[in-house]
Amino acid sequence: MSARLETKYLSLNLRNPLMASAGPLTGRPDTLHALEEAGVAAVVLPSLFEEQIEHDDIEAHRLFMYQTESFAESLSHLPEVGAYPTGPDEYLARLSAAKKSLGIPVIASLNGCTTGGWVRYAKMMQEAGADALELNIYMVADDECEPGAAVEERYIDLVTAVRETVTLPLAVKIGCQFSSLPNFVQQLVHAGADGLVLFNRYLEPDIDLDKLEVLPSLHLSQRHELRLPLRWIAILRDQTRASLAATSGIHTAADVIKALLVGADAAMMTSALLQSGPGLARKVLHELRSWLDEREYESVDQLRGSMSRKNCPDPGAFERANYMRALTSYTAEYRAP
Ligand SMILES: Cc1cc2nc3c(=O)[nH]c(=O)nc-3n(C[C@H](O)[C@H](O)[C@H](O)COP(=O)(O)O)c2cc1C
Repeated sequence: MSARLETKYLSLNLRNPLMASAGPLTGRPDTLHALEEAGVAAVVLPSLFEEQIEHDDIEAHRLFMYQTESFAESLSHLPEVGAYPTGPDEYLARLSAAKKSLGIPVIASLNGCTTGGWVRYAKMMQEAGADALELNIYMVADDECEPGAAVEERYIDLVTAVRETVTLPLAVKIGCQFSSLPNFVQQLVHAGADGLVLFNRYLEPDIDLDKLEVLPSLHLSQRHELRLPLRWIAILRDQTRASLAATSGIHTAADVIKALLVGADAAMMTSALLQSGPGLARKVLHELRSWLDEREYESVDQLRGSMSRKNCPDPGAFERANYMRALTSYTAEYRAP
C-alpha cells in the first residue's frame, strides 16, 4: 500500500504537504486550476498589500512590473499583469471566485507592516470564504532610535490586531532576522498565530551604475536557500506546536522531504512552479510518494520531524559545531589555484 500523504496545516486537512505559496500563479483562475489539477494541496493567493488599501494611488501595474522585470528566466510562465488585483474589492471578488471554483483550501494573504485601518480587510477575507489567512509582515528596521524589542513589538501588535479581527486560522510569514527566533515565535503564537511560514525572501535592491538609480531586483530562488528554513524549522519544531510551513528554495521532491524531516507541516513553492509550470507539482508528488514507498514509510506523519534538532543523531549540526567543522574541512581540502 502506498504511503499516506495527508497532512494537517493550521487546522486544515490537506491531501498532501505541497502548497503553492503566494505569487503570480496563484493569482489567476487558469493557473489556480492547473495547480489544483497537478495535485497541489492548498494555495495562498497573492497578497493584498497595505499600500493598496491605505494609499489608493499605488498602481498594480507598477507593482507587477516591479516583480517581473528582473527575472527574465521565468517570463514564459508569468501571467499577464492581471495576476495581481488592483485593490481590495477586486481582491475579495477573486478570493470568493477562487473559493467557489476550487476544491482545495484557499488561503488569503495580507502584506504589510503597520497596525492600521487596513487590518479590517482580514475580516472581509474571512467573509469572502478564505479557509485561512496568511499575514506577511515585511518591514525593514532602519531607525537607529528603535531598539529590537520595539520592532518585535510592532509585529506582535499587528498579529494581535488581526487575531482580534478574525476567527480564521492565522499563519504569519516572517523573515529570519531576529535575535532570538524561538522566543519571538512563541510571542507570535501567544499573540494568536496558529502557524509560521518560514521564511520571507526580502527584495534586496541593486544599483544601476549607468543611471545611478536604485533598482528593485527580484530573482527567483535557488535550492540552497532552503537551508535557512531547514535549520530553523529543525530548531523550532521541538519548541512549538504551531504549524510550520517551509518557504524559500523548495524546487524538488528532495527539498520537500528535507522540509518534512526537520519538522515542517507543509512545503511551499513559488519559484520552481514559475520556472517549470504548475505541472511540476505532479512530478514532485510522484517522487515524494516513491521515496516514501521505497523506504517503507506508511505516511508523511511518520517522516515528519524525525530529523528535528532533538531527533537528529547530531543535534549540534544545526548549531555552531556545523560552522567550525565546515570551515576546517574546507581549509584542509583547499589547494591554492
Ligand atoms: C513573483 C513573485 C511574487 C510574489 N508575491 C508574493 C505575495 O504577493 N505575497 C507573499 O507573501 N509572497 C510573495 N512572494 C514570495 C513567495 O510566496 C515565496 O515565499 C518566495 O518566493 C520563496 O519561495 P520560493 O523559493 O518557492 O520562490 C512572491 C514571490 C515571487 C517570486
